[in-house]
Amino acid sequence: MSKKQNRLSTLLLYLKLLKRWGFKQKKKFIIANILMLIVAMATSMYPLIIDFAFDVISEKNKQYIFLLPVLILGITFIKGFAHYFQTVYVGIISNSIIKDIQYHLYNKVLEFDVTIFNNQNAGSLQSRFINDLNILKESIIRTLNNLIRDVLILLGLIISMFYLDWVLTICVLLVYPICIRPVIKIGKKTRNISLKLQKKISEASAFLSESFSAIRVIKTYNLESLQKKNAIKKFENIYEGNIKIIRVRAKIEPTLEIIGGFAISIVLVLAGIRILNNNSDLGSFTGFISALLIAVQPARALGTLNAILQEGAASLIRLEDLLKKKSLINTTESKKVLSLVKGKIKFSNVSYYYNYEEYTLTKINCTINAGEQVVIVGANGSGKSTFINLIPRLMDPIKGNVYIDDQNIKKLHLKSLRESIALVSQDVILFDTSIMKNIAIANPKASQLEIIEASKKADAHNFIIKLKKSYKTITGDRGLNLSGGERQKISIARALIKQPKILLLDEATSALDNKSESKVNKVLKSFQKNITTIIVAHRLSTILEAKRIIYFDKGCILADGSHKNLMKNNSDYREHFYSVFKK
Ligand SMILES: Nc1ncnc2c1ncn2[C@@H]1O[C@H](COP(=O)(O)OP(=O)(O)OP(=O)(O)O)[C@@H](O)[C@H]1O
Ligand SMILES: [Mg+2]
Repeated sequence: MSKKQNRLSTLLLYLKLLKRWGFKQKKKFIIANILMLIVAMATSMYPLIIDFAFDVISEKNKQYIFLLPVLILGITFIKGFAHYFQTVYVGIISNSIIKDIQYHLYNKVLEFDVTIFNNQNAGSLQSRFINDLNILKESIIRTLNNLIRDVLILLGLIISMFYLDWVLTICVLLVYPICIRPVIKIGKKTRNISLKLQKKISEASAFLSESFSAIRVIKTYNLESLQKKNAIKKFENIYEGNIKIIRVRAKIEPTLEIIGGFAISIVLVLAGIRILNNNSDLGSFTGFISALLIAVQPARALGTLNAILQEGAASLIRLEDLLKKKSLINTTESKKVLSLVKGKIKFSNVSYYYNYEEYTLTKINCTINAGEQVVIVGANGSGKSTFINLIPRLMDPIKGNVYIDDQNIKKLHLKSLRESIALVSQDVILFDTSIMKNIAIANPKASQLEIIEASKKADAHNFIIKLKKSYKTITGDRGLNLSGGERQKISIARALIKQPKILLLDEATSALDNKSESKVNKVLKSFQKNITTIIVAHRLSTILEAKRIIYFDKGCILADGSHKNLMKNNSDYREHFYSVFKK
C-alpha cells in the first residue's frame, strides 16, 4: 500500500466509523465543537495580550496596567470552563460510540453459528470487546481533541502571528511542512506493529481464559510448569510488541523538539534583524515568540496523532473483520412462524462437515414421527451430536434439508423453531446464578410451582431441597458448585419447563445414577405421543427399552428399528452391540 493510500484508508476507516456510530451523538458533537472554538479563540488571544502588555508597560500607561489582569483572568476563565466541558463532552461522545459498538458486536456474536466459536476462541473474542475497543476509544478521543481543537488553536495562533509579524509567520509556515514529514513516517510504522500487537494480546487473552476454565485438568495433570512456560511466551510477545511501539513512539517527541529548536533559532535571528532594522518592535516579537511556544503543544499533539490514529485503525480493522463476518445460519429471510407443532422430524439427504476435508454426516435420510421416542446409538465421533444439533439449527446442513412437520426448517422463523425444541446437550452449562433462575431461563413465564414440578420430574427436587439455600443456591461459575449428575438433572428440568414439542437429550442422563436415570426415563416415557423425543444414550437399560433405535456409524445410519429386530436382522448393529455390551 502506498503512503497516500495508507493515510487515505485510515481516514476512510474513521469516517466510516463516525458515519455509522457517531450520528447519534450529533448534538453533543456540535456543542463540543463550539466549545473547542472558544478554547481556540481564547488561546490565540494570549500572544496578543502579551504584545499589548508589552506596549502598555513600555509606554508606562498606568490606566491600562490595571486592565491587564482583568483581561488575562477573563480569558483564562473562559478558556478553562470551555476546556473542561469540551473534554467531558468528547469523553461522553467517544465512550457512547464504544458502548454502541460493544452492544452491536455482542448481538452479532450471539447470532454466530456455533461452529464459529470453535475457531474463534472465547478469550480472543473478549479481547476485541475490551482491548481493541479501548484503543479505538483513545484514538477517537485524540482525533476529536487534536484534529479539531488543536487545529483550531493552531489556526488562531497563526492568525495572531500574522497580525504581529507577517514576514516571520510566513517563514515559520514554510518550515513546518518539513517538520512533520518524519513524524508521519513514524505513524505509518506504528500501525503495522500495533496490528501484530493486538493479535498477540488476543492470543494471550484466549490462553488465559482457556487456562482458567481448564484449571482442574491443569492441576490434576501437573501441567502448571508447562502452562507457566506458555504464559511467559505469551506475555513476552506482548512485551516485545509494546516495546517496539514505545521505541517508535519515543522518536516522535525529540524529533519535534529538535525541529522546534530549529524553528525558534531561525525566528530569533530573523526577528533580531527585523527589529534592528526597525521593521518590528519588541512587543510584537515577544508576542510572536510566545505564540510559537504556545503552538508547540498542539503541534506536538498533531504530530503524535498520526501514530495513535494508526493504532486505532489497526483495532478498527480487526473489529471490522468481526463485524463483517456472516453467521452461516441465515436468519433474515426466514419469517414463517412455526406454530401448533406436532413434532414430526424428517432428514432428507442431509450431509454435514465441520472441515472441508471430511464429511461428518453423509446422506442422512430418516423420518421420526410426531410423538415418537427414538434412541440413537453409535460409537464416539459417529455423528450423533451433530445430527441432533442440526434440528434446532445450531448449524445448517451443507447438503440436504431438515423438515419439521413437513416444513423446511431453513424457511422457518428461527426463534419460533427453537421455542418448540428443548436440547440438553452433552456438556451441561449452567449460569452463575440461582438454581431457580437456571431452570426458569428456559421459560421465564413458568411459575415457582411449575419449576418445582419440572425438578421433580428430572429427579432434581430431592437434592435441591437438601441444599442450604434450596432453589436459591447459586450454582457457581459454569455450575461448578454442583456435582456432574446434579448439573445434568438441573439441565433436564430446564428442558422440561420449556414444555417442548421436541425434546433432544444428548447423553443427558449419562452422569445420573441408575435410580435417578430410571426415574427420569419413566417420566420421559409418560410423554409419549405428546413430545417427540430423541435420546442419545450408551446405557444398556435405555437401549433395551427403546421401541426404535437408530444406529450411527461414521456419519451414516446403518440400522433403524427396534432392538430385537435389529439384533435379529442387522449384523452391523449386532456387532456394535456385542462389542459394547460383552457379557
Ligand atoms: N466443532 C467441531 N469442529 C470440528 N469437528 C467436529 C466438531 N464437532 C464434532 N466434530 C467432529 O465430528 C465428528 C462427529 O462428532 P459428534 O460430536 O457428532 O460425535 P458423537 O457421535 O456425538 O460422539 P460422542 O459419542 O463422543 O458424543 C467427530 O469426528 C468430531 O471430531
Ligand atoms: Mg456427542
